[in-house]
Amino acid sequence: MIDRGRLERHIAELSAIGGKGAAVTRLGLSREEQRARTLVGGWLAARGARVRRDPAANLFARFGSEGPAVLLGSHLDSVPEGGRFDGALGVLSAIEAVESLLDLQAPLRRPIEVVAWADEEGARFGVGLFGSAAAFGRLAPGVAERTDRDGVSIADALRSLGEVGDPALARREPKEFAAYLELHIEQGPRLADAGRALGVVSDIVGIYHARVTLRGRADHAGATIMSARADTLAGAAEMVLAVERIARAHPDGVGTVGEIAVRPGAKNVVPGECVFSIDLRAARAHEDLVRWVLAEVERIAHTRGLQSSVDELARVEVTPLDRGIALLLRRAVKDVGVDAELLVSGAGHDAQNAQLSGVPTGMIFVRSSGGSHTPREFASLDDAALGARALAIALRELAA
Ligand code: GLV
Ligand code: MN
Ligand code: MN
Repeated sequence: MIDRGRLERHIAELSAIGGKGAAVTRLGLSREEQRARTLVGGWLAARGARVRRDPAANLFARFGSEGPAVLLGSHLDSVPEGGRFDGALGVLSAIEAVESLLDLQAPLRRPIEVVAWADEEGARFGVGLFGSAAAFGRLAPGVAERTDRDGVSIADALRSLGEVGDPALARREPKEFAAYLELHIEQGPRLADAGRALGVVSDIVGIYHARVTLRGRADHAGATIMSARADTLAGAAEMVLAVERIARAHPDGVGTVGEIAVRPGAKNVVPGECVFSIDLRAARAHEDLVRWVLAEVERIAHTRGLQSSVDELARVEVTPLDRGIALLLRRAVKDVGVDAELLVSGAGHDAQNAQLSGVPTGMIFVRSSGGSHTPREFASLDDAALGARALAIALRELAA
């Protein structure tokens, strides 16, 4: 049985770390994320798990002995001023699912590992799905040297959390895992619109993240005539609109520029340098979307006499999740009274790294109102408990 009171308490205790009202700021590889790991690890250790942190700061809690494990969990970090449920609900539901299985005192056919992936959001260093990429050997080369705005590298951040500073050491073999299950809030309106509490994920979109740097010339804003300028922000503005135009023309593409900075950054100086992010996603023809946007960036830079360079931060292909696990999850969801639709996820998830490495992977979505990546994101306790029950049924089928 799922203990609703405990789930509610866990949600409240976890969201107090980095929390302010309904907002949560718990960036990846920060002190707050570490405190969240310590809290959650303590709960799992109290139920008899062997708890450890790996060199990428992922938290694993293992129950049972030898052999391929059923892995389940999500992440504990958030975006700046995010909500209480993105990632957190997946870890807390995994704990509930395991607790309910242990309460049954049924012998385990397979070991179980609960995981809290580190830095899923990539909000600080720009590298999303960081912990799962490290564990499944999918980190881009040189990633540990990437820095945040203050010049602190991922390796430095890991060292200040007590790790050695090399996330590649976190690598595990996919064959150590029989399956991976992740519960997550939907982050979009489809379940709420359909009046359903739960859904099952069929595919996850392809994701491309990059940082574009434009170099022009800083000049006096009063004394430099318009035809003599190499204004990087004006060029970036045109590129931002190109991202929007191209994504709109793509059948199911979305494109976002969510960060932008200019240097030197003064009202009376023509911006000599501009750095901005690009986030491009699609469930189909994702590569075309990326190619078209990059070609436009190059064309606009050339036309305006700007130098452009594109630093690719992540490229995750469109990920069809395991069909067998999806069937099992649909049955589990049906058992709790919901006729689940299959949904495509527009958000990225650590589940992608598991599935793309060959671990049969599935995801349950829980209805959330208020979207996600904002303090408005919200899953009711009823829906959260229902999702945890479905997860527990699936876990029992796989591990007990
Ligand atoms: C993670 O939430 C992402 O999809 O950016
Ligand atoms: Mn998430
Ligand atoms: Mn997120």
